[in-house]
Amino acid sequence: MNKITAMAPANIAFIKYWGKQNENLRLPVNSSISMNLSGVYTNTTVEFSHEFKSDEIKCLDKNFNHSEKIRIIQHLDRIRKLAKINLSARVVTRNNFPRSVGIASSASGFAALTLAGSIAAGLNLSPKELTILARLGSGSACRSIPDGFVEWLAGNDSESSYAYSLYDKNYWDICDLLVLVSSKAKHVSTTGGMEKAATSPLWPNRTAQIPTRISQIKLALKDKNFSFFGEVLEEECLEMHAVMQSQNPPLNYWTDETKMIMQMVGGWRRDGIAVYFTIDAGPNVHIILEKSNVELIKNKLREKFSPDQMIVNNPADGAHLISESLF
Ligand code: PMV
Repeated sequence: MNKITAMAPANIAFIKYWGKQNENLRLPVNSSISMNLSGVYTNTTVEFSHEFKSDEIKCLDKNFNHSEKIRIIQHLDRIRKLAKINLSARVVTRNNFPRSVGIASSASGFAALTLAGSIAAGLNLSPKELTILARLGSGSACRSIPDGFVEWLAGNDSESSYAYSLYDKNYWDICDLLVLVSSKAKHVSTTGGMEKAATSPLWPNRTAQIPTRISQIKLALKDKNFSFFGEVLEEECLEMHAVMQSQNPPLNYWTDETKMIMQMVGGWRRDGIAVYFTIDAGPNVHIILEKSNVELIKNKLREKFSPDQMIVNNPADGAHLISESLF
């Protein structure tokens, strides 16, 4: 059978996914909205063959641990079931960013695996079906399949929980200046952390607020109203982290450097520069800004951070096939 390689971007959530209505199906409590990132991505090659005695899974930049391998094999099983094949696979994957620094690689990883794996298995899934399959591997992975700016509809069953493109990558010239900070926080998986979301006393308020916030961010995107957009995405980030930090047991992904950057962003804004921050499940800070301000903010960050800690991301295409093969 064919050997297929796909590339998929990581994405940054403007409206966050935190909490599931169904664990097995990875159905989120609320819809979420994200942007694909041009500078952080995963390439994955998949081949199914009689020649492989068992699944062979390899990550070129950092070895997978046992549970990561199991999760990938479970995803291959979903693909095999859909394709009605019984062949073992070889999967080789490479991230262009270090997995150890706490950038979630599960979104780009499962999106690339879904696209390459499904085609290698002979499937011809629709874009919607691809997002549903990717979601079963890792929730946020479904948002790395469509292009540009993406909404993942929460839905109420597997069929209705899918992602689609709101706007393509050329729609709006905004950037995500990702600042990598050293991860001193103990890593807790998003899967484990999310299970406890509803123990936060802030949870009822969050679930009540979310529909309004989704409408606001969509309106800001439609009008390209950057300051409104930034205010809503920052409020959303702070609320999700407030929920995490007040769940039982509490979950805190921030380090001193995370908090320092958040304060720097606030200071620049008081100086009249339109910059906002958002943070996913890790200590790294995504500074959201208009393209025209990227060099200015990079220069300011250089006082505290080295250039290799900064990754400039433009809005990017979703998962797509590439010709370069990893084996
Ligand atoms: O899909 P997961 O398990 O990597 O969860 C992602 C959770 C957050 O990054 C915190 C929020 C989001 O919507 O991406």
